[in-house]
Amino acid sequence: MAKTKTIYYCQNCGAQYSNWMGKCTNCGEWNTIVEEVVEKKPQKEIWQEEVNRKDKTPVLFNINEIPKTGETRIITGNDELDRVLGGGIVLGSVILLGGEPGIGKSTLLLQVALSLKNLKVLYVSGEESATQIKLRSERIGIETEECYVLTETQTQKVFKQTKDIRPNILIVDSIQTLESQLVESAPGSVSQIRQTTSELIKFAKETNTPVILVGHITKEGAIAGPKILEHMVDVVLQFEGERNHIFRLLRAKKNRFGSTSELGIYEMQGTGLKEVRNPSEILISAKDHALSGNAIAATLEGIRPMLIEIQALVSTAVYGTPQRSATGFDLKRLNMLLAVLEKRAGFQLGAKDVFLNITGGIRVDDPAIDLAVICAILSSYENEPLPDNCCFAAEVGLSGEIRPVNRVDQRIIEAEKLGYDVIFVSKNNKINTGNFQIRIEMLGTVGDLYQMLF
Ligand code: TYD
Ligand code: MG
Repeated sequence: MAKTKTIYYCQNCGAQYSNWMGKCTNCGEWNTIVEEVVEKKPQKEIWQEEVNRKDKTPVLFNINEIPKTGETRIITGNDELDRVLGGGIVLGSVILLGGEPGIGKSTLLLQVALSLKNLKVLYVSGEESATQIKLRSERIGIETEECYVLTETQTQKVFKQTKDIRPNILIVDSIQTLESQLVESAPGSVSQIRQTTSELIKFAKETNTPVILVGHITKEGAIAGPKILEHMVDVVLQFEGERNHIFRLLRAKKNRFGSTSELGIYEMQGTGLKEVRNPSEILISAKDHALSGNAIAATLEGIRPMLIEIQALVSTAVYGTPQRSATGFDLKRLNMLLAVLEKRAGFQLGAKDVFLNITGGIRVDDPAIDLAVICAILSSYENEPLPDNCCFAAEVGLSGEIRPVNRVDQRIIEAEKLGYDVIFVSKNNKINTGNFQIRIEMLGTVGDLYQMLF
């Protein structure tokens, strides 16, 4: 007979406790420990299962003897998603898609489900009714034949349906609404998430069917549930963006079958998510009339070059302590660049408010945008627009030196493609200038830059 037992789990990190506590000693969070009922098998039964399992010969391989099989992938036709996944969905893989509420996770997956021709898709939703899903599909407006919708939350019943339908892809929206009969606690709790995920992983590996899970995100931006969830799945994708902006970015946080440096860009429209093939053209707002405080940076997201617009506003501080604020850029890095300008180039920015904004609501971590940030600040400080049609790609060091960046050729090619006349880079970058039509200015220090531009 199975005996019930309760365990206290931290809902944040998944740590187990035998009694309740106010603070989790593992992750330091307060009020995250919740009691969950778990079914505990008596020792004898567990032992019996072990013995039964031992009947099978364990599979021991010499690595050279394992037969080679090329991974087979399903090309979804959604180019941005395919690229972020490393070239399509690998058969038998489990993909977790995380993102804030309302960002467009369900829309993205339904769109993928509808656009897969000649493949059967089962879309399991515990969040919306069948009519709601139908409405959404009408909004997206893609005709399809073999997309099945199941509004069910019990894994056992889901698996019963998969036996009949035999889908080529299983989509689950969301893992937090799913429950397994084998565990007694409520859906969304640590033990349920762990159980349902492992059942789905087992299903994926046994039937070689890819499974895509939607995961909710906590206030802090981590995928709700234990960290172990991210360890269990093959791919973790993050869907992000400012809700008030139309752009949505898809990144891979973990990918067992490809790189994690790729970025997919979408635009949320009235008829679903549209892939953005040429982000540079959209991210730059006003190329024709120059304004002070604007500078264009040639950045790389993953392996994709992209030109983005940086806007700065420098104004005299009204209050004693000047304000510094940055949207889409690291505030600490902004403070560092301001200190470099102050100390190495002699600009009196200590008593100025400085606001920095990357347009389009995207977030960039590439250090190669430093130079454009500095130029935008100087342009606003001098109240003088930068020369027309120029862009920047270099890092700025603490001593005011302009440092080389990686893959500078790709950045130059992108700038050239978009019709820029001149690009400013570090003089330490090795560039064969004969290869390009665009004028390439090579700079040594921030002082050189100032003299050249103002
Ligand atoms: P949704 O996919 O429901 O988000 P999630 O599953 O991540 O919670 O997306 C909801 C938002 O997207 C909602 O605010 C409406 C908007 N939306 C559009 O702008 N256009 C569309 O065609 C669709 C389907 C949704
Ligand atoms: Mg949803």
